[in-house]
Amino acid sequence: MDNTPLIKGENIQKIYGRGRSALTVLKGISLEIGSGEILAIIGPSGAGKSTLLNIIGCLDSLNGGSLEILGRDVSGFSVEDLSGFRNRHIGFIFQQHNLLPEFSAIENIMIPLLIRREKKKYAREKAMSLLEKFNLTDRAAHMPSELSVGECQRVAVARAIIGDPQIILADEPTGSLDRANSMNLVEVLFKLCRENRTTIIIVTHDLQIASLTERTISLLDGKIVS
Ligand SMILES: Nc1ncnc2c1ncn2[C@@H]1O[C@H](COP(=O)(O)OP(=O)(O)O)[C@@H](O)[C@H]1O
Ligand SMILES: [Mg+2]
Repeated sequence: MDNTPLIKGENIQKIYGRGRSALTVLKGISLEIGSGEILAIIGPSGAGKSTLLNIIGCLDSLNGGSLEILGRDVSGFSVEDLSGFRNRHIGFIFQQHNLLPEFSAIENIMIPLLIRREKKKYAREKAMSLLEKFNLTDRAAHMPSELSVGECQRVAVARAIIGDPQIILADEPTGSLDRANSMNLVEVLFKLCRENRTTIIIVTHDLQIASLTERTISLLDGKIVS
């Protein structure tokens, strides 16, 4: 068995701004996350949850400490290396679905595979099978503006997982959904992650959702408090 954690952060620091306006947002975060783990991050607004998630997702750089993902030290990666690494290994889900408005549901889902230069036919078939899983088969050709918020968010989840990433990062993915849609979304998401042994980190305000995960990290003022 390989015991190396999938994600290993040590003393991660993040500072925004410079000089007198410098703001230390992450004050030394150390964490290890294993393969297939389902983890929640909770904490009040402004605690640094999104900043931490963006750093783990290679969308933002750290100012101190170290970060290894899949055994690679990502802190030294160039911008090109980071985007290639993200495309191959990480799927993102945001509070707003961030679908491209000029593309249909199925086209939005296909995008990560097309970026990887997979065949269009293969991407379309894979996207279709995900639409089936989400009960959205009859919505494939619809534009995001023709879908409900809950449907858009399910399309966003399909887009995040189509490339079989080892890691899914979700930043308050149910923040704009009602209770029924929220529970539906996380249930499908967690089920898919368990089937594929995908690691998921979900930032949430919703303690009911946090209770469905195996571990919860509490963040307060840039530090892990439990
Ligand atoms: N790009 C940025 N520039 C300056 N300050 C930022 C930036 N992004 C976030 N912050 C600040 O960092 C702190 C943590 O923000 P964030 O990680 O978004 O918190 P959370 O997601 O827990 O609500 C906040 O005080 C926020 O204002
Ligand atoms: Mg946030």
